[in-house]
Amino acid sequence: MVLRDLTRADLPWMAQVERDLFGPSAWSESLIREDFRYGSTRYRGAEFEGALVAYAVYGYDGDAFHLMNLAVVPAARRRGIARTLLLEFLAEARAQGAPDAWLEVAVTNEAALALYRAHGFEDVRVRRKYYQPEGVDALVMRVPLGDAAGDAVVG
Ligand SMILES: CC(C)(COP(=O)(O)OP(=O)(O)OC[C@H]1O[C@@H](n2cnc3c(N)ncnc32)[C@H](O)[C@@H]1OP(=O)(O)O)[C@@H](O)C(=O)NCCC(=O)NCCS
Repeated sequence: MVLRDLTRADLPWMAQVERDLFGPSAWSESLIREDFRYGSTRYRGAEFEGALVAYAVYGYDGDAFHLMNLAVVPAARRRGIARTLLLEFLAEARAQGAPDAWLEVAVTNEAALALYRAHGFEDVRVRRKYYQPEGVDALVMRVPLGDAAGDAVVG
């Protein structure tokens, strides 16, 4: 597996994966292009056997270090690709001196909840009907990144 920055040429692929995985609540290609161009977020990709199979989008949103998006195409799952991207996100947050890292996840998303809990994320609060148009609740999760925090569970 190779991690690399996404380029503008990768964005149509990412938008297609978004549509396939998230349906009506997917990030649109225009939103992705806009954020990629003007946002302060990092767009990271993972290649497996020479093809892009996953992406993660993260960075500061306001004052908190935040994982905005993470997805792996179905054919490449359960190979540790999401874990690798998540660990890079956490390492980047630490490197930037963030005291903690944040994300939102659908309360129904068992795979992602298991991944995040395995890496020290704790439940903070529920945002009712956060995902639209489906009206699914989001769980806000946080992991502390202080000196000793997370070392026991990350890696
Ligand atoms: C959630 C997702 C990113 C996981 O990607 P992945 O590359 O398959 O995950 P990994 O192989 O790195 O799994 C790491 C750990 O996460 C947990 N996990 C991952 N998928 C799981 C599943 N389907 N059921 C239970 N636990 C799961 C396990 O603890 C796993 O460790 P293990 O394989 O040693 O048991 C992937 O299923 C996905 O893209 N889903 C659709 C998009 C999505 O929901 N993104 C998250 C938005 S918040």
